[in-house]
Amino acid sequence: MDKLVIEGGVSLSGEIVISGAKNAALPILCAALLTGETMTFSNLPRLKDVTTLLDLLAQMGVRVAPEGERRVSLNADGLNNPSALYDLVRTMRASILVLGPLLARCGEARVSLPGGCAIGARPVDQHIKGLQAMGAEIRVEQGYIHAKAKRLRGARVCTDMVTVTGTENLIMAASLAEGETIIENAAREPEVADLANCLARMGARISGAGTDVIRVQGVERLSGAEYAIMPDRIETGTYLCAAAATGGKVRLSNTSAAYLDAIIDKLMDAGCEFDLARDAITLQAPARLKSVSLRTAPYPAFPTDMQAQFMAINCVADGVATIRETIFENRFMHVAELQRLGADIQIEGNNAIVRGVAGLQGANVMATDLRASASLVVAALAARGETRIDRIYHLDRGYENMAEKLSALGAKARRI
Ligand code: EPZ
Repeated sequence: MDKLVIEGGVSLSGEIVISGAKNAALPILCAALLTGETMTFSNLPRLKDVTTLLDLLAQMGVRVAPEGERRVSLNADGLNNPSALYDLVRTMRASILVLGPLLARCGEARVSLPGGCAIGARPVDQHIKGLQAMGAEIRVEQGYIHAKAKRLRGARVCTDMVTVTGTENLIMAASLAEGETIIENAAREPEVADLANCLARMGARISGAGTDVIRVQGVERLSGAEYAIMPDRIETGTYLCAAAATGGKVRLSNTSAAYLDAIIDKLMDAGCEFDLARDAITLQAPARLKSVSLRTAPYPAFPTDMQAQFMAINCVADGVATIRETIFENRFMHVAELQRLGADIQIEGNNAIVRGVAGLQGANVMATDLRASASLVVAALAARGETRIDRIYHLDRGYENMAEKLSALGAKARRI
């Protein structure tokens, strides 16, 4: 099992290139199922989750043609197996995103329930409720979702809570349905808008993406297209936190501050200064950060995917911060590991009270989930001495070449 070994105490400096967004790439690759024509995607991040999804699509009969490091063409003309089996889906919950497209294109789908993960139960009841509203017959048995629909009909759907992949599944299903679908309480995340932009390029008729009411006029068929994946705002935020925690100055290119308002606001409150260019962000950290409290909520509020990383910087900041996690029921798995590094954190329900300490000390820690792993990296960079992070396959799911990118910023980080 690979480990990441970090010798902390170095102020990060230099420049790295941000990769394409994992949480945009995953739904957008599934959109290829909606047409028999070729889709070509660029700026794809080289991540385990992307490889897993491409394997799943290939198993369905999609022709997958890599065309270079971050470019792939998909053709689903030969789509002949509308199913996603448990052994693959359980390794990547986002596989649920094939459900809507398979129903819309093939009229049937057999998709394993994703099951829970470290951060929560992660039910998909809203996905099912929305598709049933569009006329799908769905039964769940032996851990599988069995869905059928001769042709989906447009419907008005209001999800019980904001769900990112739920909204994405419904948009993709609605793009080929009969008539108009209105999705209310829709997720406003930029990755939802990126998916809508790609679908529009394929001929879909969508309005309101990025707001909480999305209207889709179904069309008979969609055509092939080329599409470049948007930059990863969470990878961007993670490296901003790494620089902030080490009193560094870094420039992140091939990214945009447009979707990071909540994150940049909090980092400015902590004492960081920014220079924002059209496609790059430069951060200058203070010698010591000020504690910043935060509350996670759906976009455009502070993203839950940045909660763990911000907890790490609060561990070494000056003051006390309260972090409230409102999206997932168990997203404090990183707390126990941060405490091993000397952090002073108390959990009270879905609040974590973080008292900044003068310094953390390196230790052996274990990654539990993707963003928890990222928070351990941020803390290890700020800690004195050596930290060994185990089970870093979690990191590989969402961060391309993290050890190399950290080294390019001057960190003493190596993978063993
Ligand atoms: C997406 O997950 C992201 N993943 C997550 O990123 C992210 O944390 C999450 O949105 C919230 O922003 C992808 O986009 C691939 P939700 P998703 O449906 O869609 C409840 C990462 O680290 N819910 O928005 O699965 C759910 O339990 C990952 O990159 C239901 O109850 O999240 C949660 O409490 C982690 N029923 C809340 O809603 C449903 O049918 C939000 O979940 C759907 C969701």
